[in-house]
Formats: sequence, C-alpha cells, structure tokens
Amino acid sequence: MKTKDAVVIITGASDGIGAQLAAQLRRGGARLVLAGRNEAKLQKDASPNDLIVPGDLTQDSDRVALIERAAERFGRIDALINNAGRGSYYRPSEAPIDDARSLFELNFFAPLHLAQLATPLLCQAKGTLVNIGSIASQIAIPWLPVYSASKFALASLTISQRMELRKHGVNVMAVYPGYVTTDFQAHAAGSAPPASVVKGKRFAVTAEQCAAAVIEGMEQRRQLVVTPKIGWSVVWLSRLFPGLVERRMEQV
Ligand SMILES: NC(=O)c1ccc[n+]([C@@H]2O[C@H](COP(=O)([O-])OP(=O)(O)OC[C@H]3O[C@@H](n4cnc5c(N)ncnc54)[C@H](OP(=O)(O)O)[C@@H]3O)[C@@H](O)[C@H]2O)c1
Repeated sequence: MKTKDAVVIITGASDGIGAQLAAQLRRGGARLVLAGRNEAKLQKDASPNDLIVPGDLTQDSDRVALIERAAERFGRIDALINNAGRGSYYRPSEAPIDDARSLFELNFFAPLHLAQLATPLLCQAKGTLVNIGSIASQIAIPWLPVYSASKFALASLTISQRMELRKHGVNVMAVYPGYVTTDFQAHAAGSAPPASVVKGKRFAVTAEQCAAAVIEGMEQRRQLVVTPKIGWSVVWLSRLFPGLVERRMEQV
C-alpha cells in the first residue's frame, strides 16, 4: 500500500513504537488517527490534521468511539495498526488473575474488537491490518508468561484474519519485534525481568528502527515482519527444536 494520503489508525500512539510510527507516517504524508489514554502525549507532536481520540482500549465503548470517529472524519480507513500493549512480569504461578484478564483485554481483545469494527472500511479500501505481536508470540517467555500467551493468541488470530480477509484485498501483517528500547518495561506490571535477560539487549533496536520496519512491511504488503532480523533465528529455532528452546529458556 502507499502510505501517502492513507488514513491510518495507530493505537498506543502516545509512546514508544506507536509514537515513532505516527512521526514517520506523518512525515510520509499519511492522515493519522491517534489513540491512547494520555491525551497530552498524543497532542505533543501531533499536526492539526491528526485526529486524536483519547481512550482506554480495554473498554468496548472507547474502541467503538475510535473507529466511529475515524470513519466520521475521513470516511475511510486504509490501515489499522494494533500496537497498544503492555507487559506483566509475574511467574505463571503468581500472576494475579485480574492483571492477566486486563492484559488480555488490551493485548488480545482490543485488537480483535478493533479489527472487527474496522473490517467493512478496510475491505472497501483494500487496506492493511497490522497486529504488533512479539518474538514472545513464538517462544514462551517464562518471566512474561501471560504477555507471551496474549501474543501467541494474537499471532494465531492474525493468521485466521488473513485467511478471511485476503479475498477482500486486505493485507494482514504480523510484526514480531525482539527487544525495542522503549519504556515498555517501566509501564509493565510486576517485577523486573531476570538480570541475565539484559544480555539480549545487545540485539535491541530503537523504536525508530522498529517503526521503519513496520512501515516498509506495510508498503510492501508483507505478511510478517521480524525486527531485528536476528529474531528470525529464534522463530526457526523454536519451530524446529521446541524442546531445546524450552530447556534453554528454563535456564534463564
Ligand atoms: N518494547 C519492546 O521491547 C517490545 C518488544 C516486542 C513487542 N512489543 C510490542 O510493541 C507494542 C508497543 O510497545 P512499546 O514498547 O512501544 O510500549 P510503550 O512504550 O509502553 O507504549 C505502549 C503504548 O500503549 C498504550 N496503552 C497502554 N495501555 C493502554 C490502554 N489501556 N488503552 C490505550 N492505550 C494503551 C500506551 O499509551 P497510554 O499510556 O497513553 O494509554 C502507549 O502509547 C506493544 O504491543 C508491545 O507488546 C514491544
């Protein structure tokens, strides 16, 4: 798809990867709809042409308002980027059930519901649906178990959505970032990850790099973007040698 003049909804546009997606798409001439809870942050770098729809995407009514206001303002939706998400650093045996439910509400049910609401307009535009997953969509992360489960669920949903929407001309793209230098960890619930995880940060990409990879993927109508590219080795290792990866992760 061409992103110039495209109407693009970005959830979680107030921070991190979403804020970078907004900045880069704006520079490329896209017409933006920006969602998140923090209105001041959404406004900070916005242009007067951006539509800002503050809201809590764990709430059905705020999801409905987001898609309705985008449709009202622009009359079309060329792309929906389901990017808002958060982590939760608890062991499986200790994860508070309320936190697990609210995490799924944001990381899984919001992308599902928003895609349902946007589907008629995405089909009309033969547009693009992007679900920001994670390398944790492919390997179970024991220090982020509920997060990882939510991203596995989202990865599976993304494939089903592609099977449904391909015939309507909609490209459905999954994104599996590895470690991205944002405030994700500070915004997560629970305690810090194990110290040895810090080693993985040497392969980190910036939010700018991650956003650029997403936009390139959208423009080339890819089905899957893995960033950084070394993440592909994790994807293939986990598919070919799941037992080995499981035991390795257990030792971290
Ligand atoms: N950083 C990484 O290493 C990494 C790796 C793999 C995948 N990811 C994924 O990339 C996506 C973006 O993460 P990030 O690193 O950019 O995180 P971030 O800096 O913490 O940004 C998260 C965004 O989600 C929004 N958000 C959180 N709760 C929300 C709610 N209830 N309703 C609406 N918006 C909400 C936040 O906005 P408000 O606070 O304004 O609501 C913020 O804009 C997430 O899906 C994450 O799982 C990140």
